[in-house]
Amino acid sequence: MYVRHLQLGSFRSWEHVDLPLSPGPTVFVGRNGEGKTNLVEAVGYLATMSSHRVSADAPLVRHGAAQAVVRAALRRGDRELLVEIEINPGRANRVRVNRAPMQRPRDWLGMVRTVLFAPEDLALVRGDPTERRRFLDELLVSRTPRLAGVRADYDRVLKQRNALLKTARLARGKAIETLDVWDGHLTDLGGQLLFARLGLIADLAPQLTEAYARVAGDGALAAGLGYSSTTPLAGDGAALRPDCTLPTAAELTEAMRERVAERRGDELDRGMTLVGPHRDDLVIHLGPAPAKGFASHGESWSLALGLKLATFALLRAEGEDPILILDDVFATLDAERRAALAEVARSAEQTLITAAVLEDVPAELRGGRVEVGGGTARVLDPGEVATSDER
Ligand SMILES: Nc1ncnc2c1ncn2[C@@H]1O[C@H](COP(=O)(O)OP(=O)(O)OP(=O)(O)O)[C@@H](O)[C@H]1O
Ligand SMILES: [Mg+2]
Repeated sequence: MYVRHLQLGSFRSWEHVDLPLSPGPTVFVGRNGEGKTNLVEAVGYLATMSSHRVSADAPLVRHGAAQAVVRAALRRGDRELLVEIEINPGRANRVRVNRAPMQRPRDWLGMVRTVLFAPEDLALVRGDPTERRRFLDELLVSRTPRLAGVRADYDRVLKQRNALLKTARLARGKAIETLDVWDGHLTDLGGQLLFARLGLIADLAPQLTEAYARVAGDGALAAGLGYSSTTPLAGDGAALRPDCTLPTAAELTEAMRERVAERRGDELDRGMTLVGPHRDDLVIHLGPAPAKGFASHGESWSLALGLKLATFALLRAEGEDPILILDDVFATLDAERRAALAEVARSAEQTLITAAVLEDVPAELRGGRVEVGGGTARVLDPGEVATSDER
């Protein structure tokens, strides 16, 4: 699938932009701050309905506007899909597909798949668990759209249970009975999420090992993945072995239920839910140690790149190339890593690349070109690309 046409209204710095796009690589080139990342961020939003740069939607709406609109024509083979997402910060988004409103906006999730690699991804290796949980869950939903509902339900139950825990200390009696009911919902949904996350990690780990070896070159330590869970059965953080057997969703629910019961006293004291996938972490391993706190800056970058290439390989193996988005990453990579990334980027059905300096982008990816500057984005025709390359 690829984006054939992108149209934005009041999205970030763009009041209005209208851009035909082609399959294969396209470079968005222009000076710092002209709005290149904003353009590809909008494509990423189509896939996840969230931004890779901010956790809330408000910054995505142009200053002074009430809402932003991202519209796209998507091509799969000879079929075309029109989508329009109206971003309403603080309220539900509105999604229209082929001009018909969608009942639930989240039903759109999974319809477009992107893999986005950006400087922010260093946080996958070095940042808080929140970043890694988000990475896992977004990928889960893009592989299995049904899980968007499980995740939303889990978040809702968690919120209500936390509210109840806060008041339960005072109320006791009745509140405790209600808590038992919420425990059932929480562990049922939690078990499903844990099961899905473990399955994903098991699939992703060998891809990461392979991608990291390619990126980091000969003699590098092996990269792996583990899961560190507040539900002991779901993982203690050790790297997952390829031949391991994973627990079932029912077993995970049961294990989570036991753990929740054990920790009820602490939860009442602290007024919050301490057990569940919302407190877990994906552990990235490099050789014998977890990468976080040990890996060098360069190794951390390679791991982040490896994770994204692994994601690309996983989604590709499931039948369709995701749209590859490379935001400002070539300048910071050395020759070996650049080559590893360029190889994938060249083969993807569509790759969108941003760069302030064209020369930072490997020559074989410099086909399609969009010039971004002065509040406009303009697609260069092949003649103009040739002339601009001679300059
Ligand atoms: N909600 C918004 N409303 C208006 N302008 C915004 C909004 N959000 C971001 N901007 C502006 O967008 C610009 C940044 O755009 P963007 O991050 O796409 O730049 P870029 O071309 O990728 O630059 P660089 O090469 O430095 O990465 C900034 O000038 C910022 O002030
Ligand atoms: Mg940028």
